[in-house]
Amino acid sequence: MRRYSIAVIPGDGIGKEVTPAAMRVFQAAARRYGFALEETVYPWSCDYYKEHGRMMPEDGLEQLARHDAIFLGAIGNPAIVPDHIALRQSLLLWRQAFDLYINLRPVKVLPGIPGPLRERPGLKVDMVFVRENSEGEYAGIGGRLRPGTPDEVAVQTTVFTRLGVERVMRYAFELARRRPAKRLACATKSNAIQYTMVFWNEVCREVAKEYPDVEVTMYHIDALAARMVTHPETLDVVVTSNLFGDILTDLGGALQGSLGLPASGNIDPRRNKPSLFEPVHGSAPDIAGRGIANPMAAIWAGQMMLEFLGEEEAARGVMEALEAVAAEGRVRTPDIGGTSTTDEVAAAVAEKVAQSR
Ligand code: NAD
Ligand code: IPM
Ligand code: MN
Repeated sequence: MRRYSIAVIPGDGIGKEVTPAAMRVFQAAARRYGFALEETVYPWSCDYYKEHGRMMPEDGLEQLARHDAIFLGAIGNPAIVPDHIALRQSLLLWRQAFDLYINLRPVKVLPGIPGPLRERPGLKVDMVFVRENSEGEYAGIGGRLRPGTPDEVAVQTTVFTRLGVERVMRYAFELARRRPAKRLACATKSNAIQYTMVFWNEVCREVAKEYPDVEVTMYHIDALAARMVTHPETLDVVVTSNLFGDILTDLGGALQGSLGLPASGNIDPRRNKPSLFEPVHGSAPDIAGRGIANPMAAIWAGQMMLEFLGEEEAARGVMEALEAVAAEGRVRTPDIGGTSTTDEVAAAVAEKVAQSR
């Protein structure tokens, strides 16, 4: 039997709720499609920090590196650990240490889900964001001088390397080439950011020469944000820097109807280290502990994980089940207008997965 070893990190807040719920769906898929998912659950979180003074053990990276993939809920509980410490010692570290340089984030409106685009029936929204995930605005280079004094200075440097920009562009062009629309939107801000963003555009145009079949358009990030709302059907693959992609994909979630929907794969296409799959959303402290978080983003993220592991039929089964539950509208969490719980939604999807094919 095909076996996959999955590092499961529920993390904080609703991460602790959506992760086990989503795992039940993937276990249903494993049973249905004839493979095994071996889960190792790691308690690394802000609670772990409170006890140990760090987000994970010293050999945490080595432990993670042994698995085929990592499935994460969400990290962050600013009541216990400042966010910049918690995230730098966990998610951002995992992305950079494992060089998971692609952050793949589909933005697709599921049938039947209420949302801001509802008044435009027939509108097809099917974008994929390819977010640079290893450097850029998140490089983590900088410092503070004369802290706490009136002439304090804080500096944080954006880092764009030729290797980093080229590889994310190439991935985005390859993806665009495989899709029917074959369109690539390149998010920039070269009118104001004259070094890094002009370089970003130049590398995009260079790589574009290898893909004459892909239609490329440069959009300034401000106009692109507006376009996502006014003309979302004109966007197909979108390539962005680290920060721009972060912001636009929460907007994408809003267009999908809720932050409880968008999913994310932190991917190393070379497969040197395990790729990490997670919902786009965070730990949502405002609703944590009530059992009402939408597990669909986590389920969708796991669907991407199954596809990445090569279980394409199972991935299709999970996606169809998710779409069917969304379309029926009987079982929904409150963020998308229902009254169901996290577990009820996951159970409804799992049941359809069990009957799929
Ligand atoms: P958030 O995504 O946690 O929440 C934003 C809003 O969306 C909240 O009102 C929340 O209730 C709602 N929401 C999010 N997910 C939902 C779901 N599945 N179902 C229903 N409603 C949902 O963003 P935030 O409030 O800015 O961040 C909270 C914490 O999470 C912070 O510590 C932040 O740093 C962290 N964070 C972590 C990740 C991650 O680990 N990948 C991502 C984003 C934010
Ligand atoms: C995301 C999150 C992270 C990011 C935070 C938690 C550091 O918002 O994955 O979208 O900005 O990348
Ligand atoms: Mn984000």
